Amino acid sequence: MDYKTEKEKYLVSNCTPEDPLLAELNRQTWLKILNPKMLSGHYLGKLLEMISCMINPSQILEIGTYTGYSAICMGRGLREGGKLHTIDINDEIRDFASGFIRKSGMQDKIIMHTGDALKIIPMLKGPFDLVFIDGEKSEYKDYYNLVFPKVRNGGFILADNVLWDEKVYRPEFDNDEYTLFIREFNEMICRDDRVDNLMLSVRDGLMIIRKKEADL
Ligand SMILES: C[S@@+](CC[C@H](N)C(=O)[O-])C[C@H]1O[C@@H](n2cnc3c(N)ncnc32)[C@H](O)[C@@H]1O
Repeated sequence: MDYKTEKEKYLVSNCTPEDPLLAELNRQTWLKILNPKMLSGHYLGKLLEMISCMINPSQILEIGTYTGYSAICMGRGLREGGKLHTIDINDEIRDFASGFIRKSGMQDKIIMHTGDALKIIPMLKGPFDLVFIDGEKSEYKDYYNLVFPKVRNGGFILADNVLWDEKVYRPEFDNDEYTLFIREFNEMICRDDRVDNLMLSVRDGLMIIRKKEADL
């Protein structure tokens, strides 16, 4: 991702530099894999790593592995014996991602599932302390509804791209199909009184959702 504004450049240059493994994964993704803009990258990856380290989860679920960047970042916060399940429907990038997961030394902690998250989530056993939704944007609401009962009370769900290239709040995109998917997801979360939520203007927008301690 390009850091365009002076503010973005300043923020990125004043955080811990991307380590060599993630820098190589970033570079190789841009060289060899289709749609490299999907990669979360240094700044968001570092935030995901920090959040995971703060929660210190036993179980993480990620929807949308792509080349494994965010999985490696969040995996760094796992507690001893913890596991991260990551799902991607695209089997063509599985070997690429698993190669980097092996290089990260987390091949025993990160469990890759290849297939449709809508079919795989029901087969996974919770509880999850942390979930990262970063798959197909038209399916965010379905992922959320499927995963919600498997998130522990007090657990966190993160959803990426909730600003959708700054289109969500602009009326000129009222007829844009994907903008409407994301708007509907954001509105659904705001209406859900089982959770607290906070939207961050980081990169393409990150929604932090916390499941309240008791289901209402
Ligand atoms: C934005 S990328 C994920 C980026 C990755 N989390 C990262 O930060 O580097 C979205 C991924 O979701 C996957 N995907 C799309 N629909 C899916 C589905 N129904 N089930 C599982 N994965 C899906 C795509 O194949 C793609 O690799």
